[in-house]
Amino acid sequence: MLQLEGIDNIVLEHRSREHIENRVRAGVIEYGIANLIADVGAGARMRKEGLVHHGIELRFDHQSHRIPLSDLADGRPITVYGQQEVVKDLVMLRLDQEAPLLFESEVTAIGDLTTDRPFVDVSGVDGAFRIRCDIVAGCDGTFGAANRAIPKDLMRRFERTFPFSWLGILAEAPPATEELIYGRHENGFALYSLRSPTLSRLYLGVRPDETLAQWPDDRIWEELTVRLATEEKPEINQGRIIDRGITAMRSIVIEPMRYGRLLLAGDAAHIVPPTGAKGMNLALADVRVLSQALLTFLRGGDDSLLEAYSASCLERVWRAEEFSNYMTQMLHPSYEDEFENGIQLARLRQAVSSRESSTVLARNYVDLNSL
Ligand code: DHB
Repeated sequence: MLQLEGIDNIVLEHRSREHIENRVRAGVIEYGIANLIADVGAGARMRKEGLVHHGIELRFDHQSHRIPLSDLADGRPITVYGQQEVVKDLVMLRLDQEAPLLFESEVTAIGDLTTDRPFVDVSGVDGAFRIRCDIVAGCDGTFGAANRAIPKDLMRRFERTFPFSWLGILAEAPPATEELIYGRHENGFALYSLRSPTLSRLYLGVRPDETLAQWPDDRIWEELTVRLATEEKPEINQGRIIDRGITAMRSIVIEPMRYGRLLLAGDAAHIVPPTGAKGMNLALADVRVLSQALLTFLRGGDDSLLEAYSASCLERVWRAEEFSNYMTQMLHPSYEDEFENGIQLARLRQAVSSRESSTVLARNYVDLNSL
């Protein structure tokens, strides 16, 4: 966005191009965020290959319930398109613009943040160097260089860990469903998602100490089948598993999202549990607000939007945390607490039977970051 407006900028990426383009992540893009991607000129392939979905299914008590997302959210759909595909498209756009994008460049220090000429120290493939600039956008992780540059007493970290992880697989199997299925079963959570007519993406909730070695292919398919079964649709399609991983689940919020000339965006400021697929949407929404703030500041010296950046983002960030927590807690049965399980089922029944509740769910699912 800065590049389009003629503002000089350098993107520093810690990892290799190969790594970021191939790391499989979530794949649900909100309505407003898909428009944002298209508006900056990175949407051509997403519009062509992305799958436009108008609903999701919630499965519990061995029954399926459809939430008609678009009907409940002013006609707006979601786009199912892998996050690493968005990354590839953004990299291509950047290269087309002939704008600096340095891979395998580690940020070793960020400093002078309370002056008007901060610096970023970089150690890259061609050695070490220092960049002096007007503004630093910290778009790394919650334990990255941007966080380390903020004095501990000026930053609050809110954190929650969940007693389960997700085992995710990508399989060469035609999806046996047209829409995403979020399933809650006594054995645990299951999610049936997809990437294309020939590629399925599936997830299982597992205990946090479990490893991939404990989950041979047969066990994965068996458990997915059990957890997603209904009387009418008992089967899922199996195929060769081409990617697998286990992801821990947690929520983190950093307040404020600014320290002097350092502005945090995306994972540097917050982590959401994956249920609801808000991570990338939230990050791109931060960047939309940040780019406007930077343009007003760098063009005319007006810092009012920069001053407002943290507070205006955090309101939306906490809403996304709330929604991701709601989805997570409703769909992951407790292995110890039967009372909690009763509450989860009550929430699910309400989500599918009350129009008010399904409308809130649909609107948050489809477009939380642009509401
Ligand atoms: C996907 C991931 C999610 O976390 C989610 O809530 C829905 C879909 C996915 O990878 O397709």
